[in-house]
Amino acid sequence: MAGKGKVTVVGCGFYGSTTAQRLAEYDIFGEVVLTDIIEDKPEGLALDMNQAGPIEGFDTRITGVTTKNGTGYEATAGSDIVIITAGVPRKPGMSRMDLLDTNAKIVRLVTESVAEYSPEAVIIVVSNPLDEMTALTAKVSGFPSNRVIGQAGMLDTARFTYFVAREVGVPYSAVRTLTLGSHGETMVPVPSACTVEGKPLTEVLSGEKIDELVERTRGGGAEVVSLLKTGSAYYAPSAAAARMARAVAEDTGATMPVCAWVDGEYGISGVYLGVEAEIGAGGVRRVVEREMSEAELTSLREAAETVRLKQADVANL
Ligand code: 2OP
Repeated sequence: MAGKGKVTVVGCGFYGSTTAQRLAEYDIFGEVVLTDIIEDKPEGLALDMNQAGPIEGFDTRITGVTTKNGTGYEATAGSDIVIITAGVPRKPGMSRMDLLDTNAKIVRLVTESVAEYSPEAVIIVVSNPLDEMTALTAKVSGFPSNRVIGQAGMLDTARFTYFVAREVGVPYSAVRTLTLGSHGETMVPVPSACTVEGKPLTEVLSGEKIDELVERTRGGGAEVVSLLKTGSAYYAPSAAAARMARAVAEDTGATMPVCAWVDGEYGISGVYLGVEAEIGAGGVRRVVEREMSEAELTSLREAAETVRLKQADVANL
């Protein structure tokens, strides 16, 4: 039996299409709408994905629609959740920040249409540079800040967990890691929140090894980009975005590391930043503050200031 609710994925590159596929395979939504500006591509992908339903056993309807200069968004109307993946990905050697001007123009246009057709939606932004695109989406949509969230912390934390689990030789379920801050240079690993089989990470790995894994996590996206040569990662990123959408759809209140509006937590205000938050039907229920070491707190505050400057620039793009 098909589920309920409507979720739109804007942009059907690899990130968008794999996200749509995961959402359909959950079999909890009534409809997944997939859009792109490339004529017939979303329609073709939707047709193909729908035909996987009888095999995978999902009844979610997938609708593909080409959008052009704001037209075509009628098919997305009344979405409960919209995931914005639109924009260009990095090429080898580029930082996420190199995408700023190009993606800001795209994300601005997309957001105007999303806000018009789905005024009650929770928007999940994944376009890069992530923290800046999330802030821009919030500004352009005019939505309350709890209804605009960015995906990055889930992905960065998953990468960190993967590296630690492989290093120690334990299943992922035995490892807990956390990264906060930005999805970029000022990513803030939080060793005090990291454990392996309940033991502090610092008792399991040397400081040098932890630093090495943190660096690999910080460059996790770039490492994939340099191997792929064209395009950026999408399997892990789409898993993260789809899980966030699921937490919204099922109103779970799960605590997840996300890019959320921070308003006083950790002594930081007025900025979209990677923090832990409870995610439910209305988006962010609340930002969760945790005990951190003085050094971690200082890094988080520094990350906030760096991101704040960039987010102020973005408002004019
Ligand atoms: C990454 O880190 C796409 O930004 C994303 O792979």
